[in-house]
Amino acid sequence: MYKKLFIPGPTHVREEILQAQAAPMIGHRSKDYSDLQAEVTPKLQKLLYTQQRVYLYACSSTGAMEGSVRQGSTKRVLNTACGAFSKRWHQITAANGVPCDKVEVPMGQAITPELVDEALSKGDYDAVTIVMNETSTGLLNPVKDIAALIHEKYPDVLILVDAVSCMAGVKIEFDAWGLDVCLAGVQKCFALPPGLTVCAVSDRARERAQQVATSGYYFSYAQMDKKYEKHQTPATPAVSLIQALNAQMDDVLAEGLENRWKRHEKMAATVQEWARRYFALYSDERYLSPTVTNVENTRGISVAGLNEELGKRGAMISNGYGDLKEKCFRIAHMGDLTLDDVKWLLGQIEDILGLS
Ligand SMILES: Cc1ncc(COP(=O)(O)O)c(C=O)c1O
Repeated sequence: MYKKLFIPGPTHVREEILQAQAAPMIGHRSKDYSDLQAEVTPKLQKLLYTQQRVYLYACSSTGAMEGSVRQGSTKRVLNTACGAFSKRWHQITAANGVPCDKVEVPMGQAITPELVDEALSKGDYDAVTIVMNETSTGLLNPVKDIAALIHEKYPDVLILVDAVSCMAGVKIEFDAWGLDVCLAGVQKCFALPPGLTVCAVSDRARERAQQVATSGYYFSYAQMDKKYEKHQTPATPAVSLIQALNAQMDDVLAEGLENRWKRHEKMAATVQEWARRYFALYSDERYLSPTVTNVENTRGISVAGLNEELGKRGAMISNGYGDLKEKCFRIAHMGDLTLDDVKWLLGQIEDILGLS
């Protein structure tokens, strides 16, 4: 039986979008492909409220995270960490030999402008990494406020944002906020199969990359730019996924961006209210994620057991991430899931656990 995915990626993909991937193949140096990329790029720029370049990489998000830190700094990177994925960006930065430091808050807490200010004041940094939506804790960091602080006090610091589990689910105003890189794989809020990453890059990030001696090749903005005006990519793109993305972006824009953000907020509010009633919320209430909720397992249920029962009823949720396994469970409410889907899921959990 198909299990509807309420996990924070890959998430549920609608049948029409699965079908859109099955369109006939086209050559990636053909006019047909250029037309496709020329069509999809402005839709992505609309989604991110940007006039800047949006690249498509045939990889999962980790690839573009690596590319952004390789090209983002000639001095030192500050990695902000508040959970598993933001910690990983620090590992990625260090693994690439880029000088870096980590500033960390306990799991469930947010990165604040004050914290970033204090950390940046202590070193000669020229880039900061921030995971906007920390998927391991279900927390949305205040990126807009952090970016405002950085622009005011540290104008040479690039702002690199992992929006992996919130892009296309929450409003991200790339230009107005002054972001430099904002990236996301498409298997989360875009509700597509995995394998493609969308990455907006500012002019000043592209200029910075020119200064970096060993900026790499596959993710190089300079390489991407050689083909950008032709609406192509230097290496072979994930053609089928881009065809599906083009179809999906029509649906996203037809839904209306404001409506899409509201739908995510409504789904989140419903899950949060339910979690407060029957369990507890793990993360700081002031920063709860609109796309994934981390529920603290205050009843000591078997999360694995719950998921097994849900599987028999056609649904799947996520266990707690890493050390939070069985201590928490995560319900994703992202992509094309609806409020009715979420209410149905919560009803099933109540029924299985005998909650009332
Ligand atoms: C916030 C965040 N960043 C990065 C990643 C890594 O993405 P991938 O494994 O698709 O490369 C994930 C994966 O879930 C994530 O949630």
